[in-house]
Amino acid sequence: MQPLLSVECLSKNYGHGDIFHDVSFTVDAGETIGLFGMSGSGKSTLGKCLIGLERVSSGHVLFEGVDLFTLSERKLRKLRPAMQMLFQHPEMSMDPRMRLCDSVTEPLAYHERRKRSDVFLDLLPLIAAVGLRSDLFSCYPNQLSGGEIQRAMMVKIYSLSPKLIIADEPTSMLDMSVQAQIFGLMKNLQKKNNTACVFISHDPYVMLAMCDCIGILDGVRFRMMSAEEFAEYVAILSV
Ligand SMILES: Nc1ncnc2c1ncn2[C@@H]1O[C@H](COP(=O)(O)OP(=O)(O)O)[C@@H](O)[C@H]1O
Ligand SMILES: [Mg+2]
Repeated sequence: MQPLLSVECLSKNYGHGDIFHDVSFTVDAGETIGLFGMSGSGKSTLGKCLIGLERVSSGHVLFEGVDLFTLSERKLRKLRPAMQMLFQHPEMSMDPRMRLCDSVTEPLAYHERRKRSDVFLDLLPLIAAVGLRSDLFSCYPNQLSGGEIQRAMMVKIYSLSPKLIIADEPTSMLDMSVQAQIFGLMKNLQKKNNTACVFISHDPYVMLAMCDCIGILDGVRFRMMSAEEFAEYVAILSV
């Protein structure tokens, strides 16, 4: 069976040597792959390359067998709903001038050319699933907590029924208890929809909680490990 995402020999530099080099791995439907590395190791850059938000210096990314970097802007835009990214700073991902109900309904209203009020009604089960009250959606982002905004972001992203989510440290700005709740929600939604996820973090415990396999970006050689191998790697690091 063809993997959902095939990453082949990716390298990236901004003119001062490679940030990452010769990165290859695959992601199947429903699978969660971790990308682990210290700050500045290139995790966010790689995450953006995986969905064509950033160009690579060499290599290929195939989404359902299609090389993203050979596509025109228009064709890439058509694929966008299937590949979504959840960012680290939820408050920066939502337009501060828009009420949440307008932000979360915008993508579906745009892609399906539907009225936002109709889309919002369809999103009520998803809103309940992430544990938010629907009346919160008449608020602006600055009236909500970070955890509430990240849940609203999840409504926005999952409304598009993506096949792949790149989650770039989505909980690193949230406190531990909210973090655990968001992980639980992500796992449930992933399972329900068979969504694949590339989960980015500098926190080994987050990797172990969320991922089936983990790729390590440490400026040397990109290595993909099973969760068991990663647990041993972390144990050695912390001695
Ligand atoms: N647009 C850019 N132009 C030049 N250098 C960049 C750009 N984006 C990221 N970098 C550099 O690439 C490296 C990796 O950054 P990043 O992918 O954000 O790492 P991480 O997410 O692991 O912290 C850093 O040294 C950063 O300064
Ligand atoms: Mg980053």
